[in-house]
Amino acid sequence: MSQKKIAPSLLAADFANLQRDVEMVNQSEADWFHLDVMDGVFVPNISFGMPVIRDIAKHAKKTLDVHLMIVEPDRYIQTFADLGADILTVHYEACTHLHRTLQAIKAAGMKAGVALNPHTSVNLLTDTINDIDLVCLMSVNPGFGGQSFIENTYTKVADLKNIIISKKTDTLIEIDGGVTSANAKKLTQTGADVLVAGSSVFKSSNPTETIQSLKKEIA
Ligand code: DX5
Ligand code: ZN
Repeated sequence: MSQKKIAPSLLAADFANLQRDVEMVNQSEADWFHLDVMDGVFVPNISFGMPVIRDIAKHAKKTLDVHLMIVEPDRYIQTFADLGADILTVHYEACTHLHRTLQAIKAAGMKAGVALNPHTSVNLLTDTINDIDLVCLMSVNPGFGGQSFIENTYTKVADLKNIIISKKTDTLIEIDGGVTSANAKKLTQTGADVLVAGSSVFKSSNPTETIQSLKKEIA
């Protein structure tokens, strides 16, 4: 069984102290960096793009998990590979030719992820799951940090886990949005492998300790 992972989302970091916050994650028990790219079209918010990711990548010493909340992600696949993304996640709802997009991400040397909005059924992935390295289940409506966790996510995790087992793949299940120490354990017990945590880490009084206690919850 693979080790359960914590991926702090830098969306909740202090952008005026980004290097400090990247170093904090480097030194912590966190497993990955989660980077949220928003275009103001697919989601009603704009976060950060290529120049910021380039500079984060210079300092980050852990896996870069890049979550694209953008339309037409195909246009930027090679760019994100060049920036140092290890995992590139696109939204199911933004991809007309998802199978082709997944192949392009892998051809560029990255792991391929697919994110599902809260209203999108996991059953829509039965025909592509063998081509997907990671499914990111949005447990809030994408666009903003600090929102409340949607409880229906547990059902989606269990259903997706069944699909993964029946299709005999080793696709990881990632949960993104509203993750705290109150729901972390139940999520991993239900089948989640990676928990993204933004506000609960960076808005806490001691982010390093919060990461440590999240890791303890899911150990
Ligand atoms: C939301 C982003 C999340 C966000 C999570 O659209 O995809 O990664 O940073 O933030 P929290 O943990 O604060 O809900
Ligand atoms: Zn995200």
